[in-house]
Amino acid sequence: MSELAAERIISYIKQNPTATICLAGGYTPIGTYQIFSQKAKESKLDLTGITFVGLDEWVGLNGADKGSCRETLDEYIFRPLHVREDHILFFDGKAANSDKECSRVVEELEQKGGLDFALLGIGLNGHVGFNEPHVPMEQKAHVVTLDDVTRDVSSKYFKEVIKVSQGMTLGMKTILSSDQIVLLASGAEKAEIIAQAVNEKPSPEIPASLLSLNKNFEIILDSEAGRYVESSR
Ligand code: F6R
Repeated sequence: MSELAAERIISYIKQNPTATICLAGGYTPIGTYQIFSQKAKESKLDLTGITFVGLDEWVGLNGADKGSCRETLDEYIFRPLHVREDHILFFDGKAANSDKECSRVVEELEQKGGLDFALLGIGLNGHVGFNEPHVPMEQKAHVVTLDDVTRDVSSKYFKEVIKVSQGMTLGMKTILSSDQIVLLASGAEKAEIIAQAVNEKPSPEIPASLLSLNKNFEIILDSEAGRYVESSR
């Protein structure tokens, strides 16, 4: 899964050397990021025209906090590849005004022409970024009150006890406008929600199911996450 996903990012960048590449935090894509960084270094992949865009961030946290989305990307992509700060567009979860911070990200992203490639993960409740079930589809970036499932799961990312209740996220409108979208899922715990996202009609109840509205959308699974997906699909 990680090899294939890393290949997708590399080939997109080779064909589109000035692309905006949106990357999720969380655990699922870490293997992809390690392989991507290693291969990008070995092949001297030209990243000088690329802008990396953070999909989301916990309100109250930023790159200074272990377990934040930004810190994950710092560790696995930005530091290993020496990505300059002016090539990174990320929510600052510690911004004094979260709504203004979302507007800043939308404006800067639109100045760059929007998203080109998006690598996403899926939550146990079907969320994408922090677009939780029943998300409005017309949003670009917004502050979200986190679903109970997301709050419970959040503790796996933090060594200390950190209570998170809100997130900032790119919205479904922005995500769906990407030129290419790849959704990753691994492990048996994602099998049921993946089956629902794949088998049910696109609906805001399962935000990941909406991704199939994009013409260039692909899901890459490991065998455990794909165990309920029919092989003919
Ligand atoms: C994180 C993000 C989330 C995660 C999802 C899965 O930036 O956008 O939507 O992708 O919660 O998280 P993991 O990969 O840790 O299972």
